[in-house]
Amino acid sequence: MRVTTGRLHGVVAMDGPSGTGKSTVSRRLAAACDAAYLDTGAMYRAITLAVLRAGLDGTEAEAEKVAVAAVGDLESVTDPAAPAILLAGEDVEAEIRGAAVTGAVSAVSAMPAVRSALVERQRALIEKAVATRGGIVVEGRDIGSVVVPDAPLKVYLTASEEVRAARREAQDRKAGRLADHGAVLADVRRRDRLDSTRKTSPLHAAPDALVLDTDHLSVDDVLTELLRLVEDRGMVT
Ligand code: DC
Repeated sequence: MRVTTGRLHGVVAMDGPSGTGKSTVSRRLAAACDAAYLDTGAMYRAITLAVLRAGLDGTEAEAEKVAVAAVGDLESVTDPAAPAILLAGEDVEAEIRGAAVTGAVSAVSAMPAVRSALVERQRALIEKAVATRGGIVVEGRDIGSVVVPDAPLKVYLTASEEVRAARREAQDRKAGRLADHGAVLADVRRRDRLDSTRKTSPLHAAPDALVLDTDHLSVDDVLTELLRLVEDRGMVT
């Protein structure tokens, strides 16, 4: 596999639905080019956890207030070697990957006030990382379309529902969580529908994003392609 010794300058925007390998390749790309790494999905998940801990399920009017207030309690660690998300100082990485948060996160991330508060937070983190480290790989659903519309490289990863569900199942098993194929596939479909039909920043590829279908590509294949792209665009020196 091709490796680079260069350092990334600027922002790589990585978007796409879950199960496309986005997190793994984004993190590895950042590590390979000595850049920061930001998982914006973890931010939406941590806010959702705060809503659930307040005894709400994300569908109530009150949930929006709780969610927006929780944005102030978030801390993202952007080191690709040890990325972390803290909620009021507590590391919630494991808990935000569980079924309860996964079930409620689409409702919370559809709230306009939550999105604008988190987008503002994300832009500040990105600006800081570019100033201090030179470059950052940011993954999410709206990075190329909303958060950093002028990013010099935007990639949109896709894969079929079946492949994405199978990857999710493997991930769940590895993390010791129960995984039933039918239930995971149904959840992939439900989240796709909610994420791509919401009014504020629905999931879609930015017009200038490079769309990469990962059905038949391994993580190493995708990483090789990304390294080629950042080098070709003069983003590593
Ligand atoms: O990438 P993920 O599965 O951890 O994301 C969790 C949820 O957060 C996903 O259902 C959609 C939402 N999300 C979003 O709306 N915008 C982002 N930039 C990142 C995630």
